[in-house]
Amino acid sequence: MTRKLFVTTALPYANANFHIGHIMEYTQADIWVRYQRMQGQQVHFVCADDAHGAPIMIAAEKAGKTPQQFVADIAAGRKTYLDGFHISFDNWHSTDGAENHELSREVYLALRRNELIEVKTIEQFFDPEKAMFLPDRFIKGECPKCGAKDQYGDSCEVCGAVYTPTELKNPFSVLTGATPVMKSSEHYFFKLSDPRCVSFLEQWTQTPGRLQTEVLNKIKEWFTKDDEGKGGLGDWDISRDAPYFGIEIPDAPGKYFYVWLDAPIGYLASLKNYLGKLGQDFDAYMADPSVEQVHFIGKDITYFHTLFWPAMLHFSGRKTPNHVYVHGFLTVNNGEKMSKSRGTGLDPLKYLKLGLNAEWLRYYLAAKLNSKVEDIDFNPEDFVARVNSDLVGKYINIASRAAGFLSKRFGGHLSGDLGVEGRALLDGLRAQAGAIAELYEEREFGKALREIMLLADRVNEYVDQNKPWELAKLEGKDAVLHDVCSVCIEAFRLLSIYLKPVLPALVAKVEAFLRVEPMQFADAARALGAHQIGNYEHLMQRVDLKMVEALFEAPPAPKVVPGGEDLAPEIKIDDFGKVDLRIAKILKAEHVEGSDKLLRLTLDVGEGRTRNVFSGIKSAYQPEQLEGKLTVMVANLAPRKMKFGLSEGMVLAASHADEKAHPGIFVLEPFPGAQPGMRVR
Ligand code: 2FM
Ligand code: ZN
Repeated sequence: MTRKLFVTTALPYANANFHIGHIMEYTQADIWVRYQRMQGQQVHFVCADDAHGAPIMIAAEKAGKTPQQFVADIAAGRKTYLDGFHISFDNWHSTDGAENHELSREVYLALRRNELIEVKTIEQFFDPEKAMFLPDRFIKGECPKCGAKDQYGDSCEVCGAVYTPTELKNPFSVLTGATPVMKSSEHYFFKLSDPRCVSFLEQWTQTPGRLQTEVLNKIKEWFTKDDEGKGGLGDWDISRDAPYFGIEIPDAPGKYFYVWLDAPIGYLASLKNYLGKLGQDFDAYMADPSVEQVHFIGKDITYFHTLFWPAMLHFSGRKTPNHVYVHGFLTVNNGEKMSKSRGTGLDPLKYLKLGLNAEWLRYYLAAKLNSKVEDIDFNPEDFVARVNSDLVGKYINIASRAAGFLSKRFGGHLSGDLGVEGRALLDGLRAQAGAIAELYEEREFGKALREIMLLADRVNEYVDQNKPWELAKLEGKDAVLHDVCSVCIEAFRLLSIYLKPVLPALVAKVEAFLRVEPMQFADAARALGAHQIGNYEHLMQRVDLKMVEALFEAPPAPKVVPGGEDLAPEIKIDDFGKVDLRIAKILKAEHVEGSDKLLRLTLDVGEGRTRNVFSGIKSAYQPEQLEGKLTVMVANLAPRKMKFGLSEGMVLAASHADEKAHPGIFVLEPFPGAQPGMRVR
């Protein structure tokens, strides 16, 4: 029977571009999904931007954008990465989409009907200047344990202590620097401590096959109360006060769902949005008991996905996840702190821009991935070795060793016979299909690739023993040469089927070369037979370590030229003293007939008379903006006769060297208190 799989990866916060950790998670899920599709399963593979929350709201404000615009700009950059690394999501949506607003309200209202929502008044730090409650990460102060300065409100990076923001000494708001005050407000809680929730989650988490062993062990800790009765499942604060970028809570003006409530509901929203595009019914799909719901996530968000999320779903009358597959983190060079010269980490966009092949990385990640919650490490030398000696050296090589003879000597026709030895080799390769499939199913991708490379070794041994390059030179050995090369191509086809979940773009080229339809897993069971293949073109290059090193090089520090122009040659203080700068009051400012650049200024420089100065600032100021203001002028500049009259000095203004790219002229204005005629020195 065809399986129906609803598969997701964690929804990335829409406040930054993808980092390599995202690409690893998407690659892991994508390989699994592609494997399922190759088995003929029906898969809906969806993701979305996680749009809400205080950090995004604040980042948007800093960028001078609405949160919606800010999130849309980040979303616009997603495709380059996803296409670039061949990640085959069926849909990409946003947690700010209409579907998510609606579904989040529905889930909440169902929980409320089930008497699992409670309102409690709590006290929290409030920024009086910004008039908003401060999330822990937006409060800093001195560590209550070791006294280290400038520590976050939840933990100390110096001594590792964990505490609440109220314990910080001399706390301040990261947003305004103001001292936060304690303020109380009503918060909405999901009663996870309710005995119904506890017993449901005990049963749900322990259902065999649902969660990984390590995850289960972690969860057991979360369930356990200590001797003082502390710990265990606590109620979950699901509301935040305005201002907040999120979804308004029904019947609770000024209250919004905490981002972590609506984020996982975004999985359903993206699916609903997708099925909508297909003209299919979301409710009917979710009501189908045969649908398997599978989430791929990182270990840091296990709590949300194995406790809050199933409880939210279950007690709102919905289907719960069948599997939550947790992976570890990706470190680069064993987490070695990258120095400036080595750059910082592995930027996936830089990887693509440097022209490194995305499937090298897919292959390397797959080779390292398993079904455990282990961290994996990207090591440049190891990367080069795996790609060059395994992927290219063992697998690609098989095709390149045989294809030339086939096209030159046999018109691309494969032999239908293959010989006893060849048939035995191929039978051996086919016999592994089930075991390899099983490893993909279990997310043991590293093991799967090791198995496949062992098969490639067998094929290469066969080639080494039969030496087609020698057969080609011998008289009367044409039939043997034909068989040997045909065996190689058939073996290459089988290996390509096994590798296709990992190397989709490469295998698409293989399919074109072999002149076959897109290959499914079941195609391993049959033989190509006397088939005509196309011309071989080189399928994949080796990696050059230099390219990988370039990936980790910090970009050369750009020469910073302030304001777009080099500094003038050095002067001595005496040189500066020659310039007599004075505070001037702008008594009058007028347009100059016949000039589109100049304004005529009448200035008081404290001399008991006024001065007439022409200034090229018309594009930036209306005359009335300037009148009555103080500014700075060069008072001992030789008077200049201009077309419109005599100019007796010069008013100081700032501008960028490249006025087209950085428009604007800014007249200088002294701090309050300065008087006309005062010298500027
Ligand atoms: O940790 C994160 O990056 C979150 N944005 C993941 C959300 S996953 C799901 F719940 F939406
Ligand atoms: Zn400390």
